[in-house]
Amino acid sequence: MQRELPTHYTPTAKVLHWLIAVFGFAQLSLGTWMIGIPKTPPGVRASWFNLHKSIGITLGLLILLRLAWRLTHRAPSLPETIPGWQRSLAKFCHFALYVCMVVIPLSGYLGSSFTNYPIKYFGHTLPQWGWDSPALKERFSQVHLTAIVIFVVLIALHVAAVLKHLLIDRDGIFQRMGWTRRAVKRDLGGSGPGPAQ
Ligand code: HEM
Ligand code: HEM
Repeated sequence: MQRELPTHYTPTAKVLHWLIAVFGFAQLSLGTWMIGIPKTPPGVRASWFNLHKSIGITLGLLILLRLAWRLTHRAPSLPETIPGWQRSLAKFCHFALYVCMVVIPLSGYLGSSFTNYPIKYFGHTLPQWGWDSPALKERFSQVHLTAIVIFVVLIALHVAAVLKHLLIDRDGIFQRMGWTRRAVKRDLGGSGPGPAQ
């Protein structure tokens, strides 16, 4: 029996992908920059840290939505011209990106919960359930940083692969996450088990 697979991502998946990509890049830049802010005068560093935490929690919620979408939908079928090793690499890379997307905000939140500073979400103080533990804070900071390094490498690989499909292979893969339906139809039509849309 032939299974029917979609040929491109749904609007929900696209909106979540691009929102998370844009705010993810902003958050990576903000995080890297803010750790260099001097501790005096007091307040300046804290306000940037609070902004980073607020954006990070928002991203964490968007990522949960995205994960829920992913667990309830199939990925579009890839054209048959793509070799097996590239399919496996793409699968692994996407899976690892999801793991990082969960671990990064979670470790940031947990690390911040084990300090004396309450977490403020855009000015609203969140309930503090953790306690002051420099050892736990340090452990989660290490996880946060390690996952960020892996995430950046994966994103570089992901973007390089996508650009190869867009500029060299021209097989319509880029358009599956975009809004140009004509290109997807022309390039993928008849190459996979999915129905033409
Ligand atoms: C997708 C979401 C996030 C990204 C991409 C991100 C990225 C970063 C980056 C690049 C740094 C600097 C590198 C480092 O020293 O660790 C950093 C540091 C930090 N982040 Fe995040 N972050 C995210 C979410 C969060 C959340 C949700 C919180 C807390 C609620 C948080 C709290 C912190 C803190 C306190 C630091 C300072 C270093 C430390 O104490 O670990 N981050 N983050
Ligand atoms: C924070 C940055 C990014 C993250 C975390 C990310 C993550 C992901 C993930 C996990 C998927 C697989 C979706 C799934 O099957 O559920 C995906 C697909 C895709 N991404 Fe990204 N992405 C990022 C940035 C980008 C950028 C900058 C581009 C464009 C240059 C891009 C283009 C694409 C395209 C075209 C697909 C569809 C691939 C296919 O059809 O198999 N992404 N992205």
